[in-house]
Amino acid sequence: MEAIDWLTILHPALAVVLIYPLIGVVMRLGIQTRARRVDGAKLPASTGREHTDLGRWLSAGVVAVVLVALTVVIATAAPLSQFPGGAARAGQLLLVLVGTVIALITLWRATEKAIRLVFALITWAGVISLGAQPEVFRLSDNPFQLEFWQSHYWIGVAVVGLMLFSLGSRPEIQRELRWRRLHVTANVLAAVLFVILGITGTRDLLEIPLHWQKSTLDQCNWTSRVCPPAAPQGQPGQKGS
Ligand code: HEM
Ligand code: HEM
Repeated sequence: MEAIDWLTILHPALAVVLIYPLIGVVMRLGIQTRARRVDGAKLPASTGREHTDLGRWLSAGVVAVVLVALTVVIATAAPLSQFPGGAARAGQLLLVLVGTVIALITLWRATEKAIRLVFALITWAGVISLGAQPEVFRLSDNPFQLEFWQSHYWIGVAVVGLMLFSLGSRPEIQRELRWRRLHVTANVLAAVLFVILGITGTRDLLEIPLHWQKSTLDQCNWTSRVCPPAAPQGQPGQKGS
């Protein structure tokens, strides 16, 4: 494993170590919040606030791990000295990345409805703009193809949208029954999408070679699933890799 391989597993590792445990806690607290409100279950009064606090970290965390994935994918597709589009394009993409992070922080802090709506949309647009770069692999961009629905990228974009929706509509969820219902529906869907992301992510991990294996695997035909015969092995006693 070299630095570039560690960078590749940075996003999956963050998702597994930070995001998925947080999903479990946030879901449990959400269910308890509802049990307390609807069934009058004897649970601490802080349940709703804890769900909201950790929910905010979950939303921001999901956007952050997605930005990590996109940055790594774009920055490591070619050696930095041969970055397609040169310094001008690299600078533009960096601006989009920084702008997206600033939009997320603004959304986190905002209280006014219009500001929350605008910055949730800007954050989502930032993620989609980085994701639209040719370096980012997508199984399909056509929703009428099955591959689109199996695409880690598109499911990831959908989950980011749902998380930003929860983060942006926090005061409404707290105040109005209609919004709470919408929130629960959106997050039942998000929970299903998180499961699909876990499956498609591990699938993708299986398909990404270590960087020293890449040149050989690039010669494979991924459609017919055929690889050229391996080069002859070194003689016994020769230095291996
Ligand atoms: C896995 C994701 C999530 C699930 C399954 C979930 C589920 C729930 C449920 C079941 C409730 C109770 C609704 C009711 O009382 O009828 C709730 C309330 C709420 N959720 Fe979530 N939620 C999730 C993520 C989030 C996120 C990311 C936020 C972002 C801030 C959030 C903010 C809130 C707020 C503000 C309330 C109202 C709390 C209160 O009444 O004090 N949730 N959620
Ligand atoms: C919180 C849930 C997750 C979200 C929202 C998410 C989203 C994304 C997005 C948007 C990308 C960039 C597009 C792409 O290259 O496909 C990506 C890349 C990737 N994700 Fe995830 N993902 C999540 C969880 C996971 C998990 C659990 C794994 C595996 C254990 C995983 C493995 C990967 C891999 C291997 C890549 C490609 C990285 C590369 O080519 O360098 N992801 N993810």
